[in-house]
Amino acid sequence: MFLDTPLYRCEALEPDLGCAVSIKLETANPVRSFKARGTELVASRLAERGSRAVVCASAGNLGQALAWSGRGRGLDVTVVASRFATVAKLERIRALGARLELVDGDHERARERAAAIARRDGIRLVEDSLDIETCEGAATIGLELVDSAASFDTVLIALGGGALATGVGHVVKAMAPRAEVICVQPLGAPAMTRSWHRGRVVTTDSADTIADGVAGRCPIPAVLDDLLLVADDAVLVEEASIIAGMRMLLDHAGLVVEPSAALGVAALLEDRDRFAGRHVVTIVCGSNVDVDAYHRWTRAGPLPGS
Ligand SMILES: Cc1ncc(COP(=O)(O)O)c(C=O)c1O
Repeated sequence: MFLDTPLYRCEALEPDLGCAVSIKLETANPVRSFKARGTELVASRLAERGSRAVVCASAGNLGQALAWSGRGRGLDVTVVASRFATVAKLERIRALGARLELVDGDHERARERAAAIARRDGIRLVEDSLDIETCEGAATIGLELVDSAASFDTVLIALGGGALATGVGHVVKAMAPRAEVICVQPLGAPAMTRSWHRGRVVTTDSADTIADGVAGRCPIPAVLDDLLLVADDAVLVEEASIIAGMRMLLDHAGLVVEPSAALGVAALLEDRDRFAGRHVVTIVCGSNVDVDAYHRWTRAGPLPGS
């Protein structure tokens, strides 16, 4: 259900972006993001071992995916999230039967709380991007890309904790080493990108972006080590470009995407010369949005904030 997603040339995007663009579509599944590729591994392994419970911190998509994967296997799933998380994501986590605990702070506070619950209850903590299953799940996207007939020059990957980028990146670098792996983050949440450029962990005091799926502040050292091995570059994009990317994906590709999933198109918009004439794959990695916010962002007219 979560594997073998569509991969297709989207010519309607190409005149505005100045390069060949293929979309790897990760939104047409019950949780509307790629995260269930990893949670299916986590939950099936836990169920095999007879485990009863699991906890994770989530900005919303991992939690939904773990709730979905745990539900069918009789696992008791707890998700810890910020009370400022996207409401539609929180509602779906509850609707899928998980216990949702909200913390007052941001995603980093949710991570601390989830770890505390795991210690208290003696249950498995799923640490996104650190735990191998979350990266292996994302790596299956890489396998599907390199198995496809079409060759590509560049893959643009939204960068949050790093599971997606390290998972896909390892496969691409091993099996299609001539293709560039470029990570994209918002300027408003640049911690992992800055860390990649400096070769050591850089944290930030705050994160300010509409791309809630990638709004971390404290990169995990081991994930940075992996990212340094597999990424060719990591770039930062403006909020206005993310919104322009969401609009383009709606207008020209008929796709409703959440801000994190428009990061690749945003990177193309900000640096047309760099990608001119190349064949670029962008992973459209999630479509969980609050509908009102989405309408505000994609309404015709000047870009919000411009
Ligand atoms: C839609 C979406 N895109 C990108 C990411 C970033 O992925 P990662 O944290 O694996 O880097 C996430 C993370 O949850 C996400 O939900």
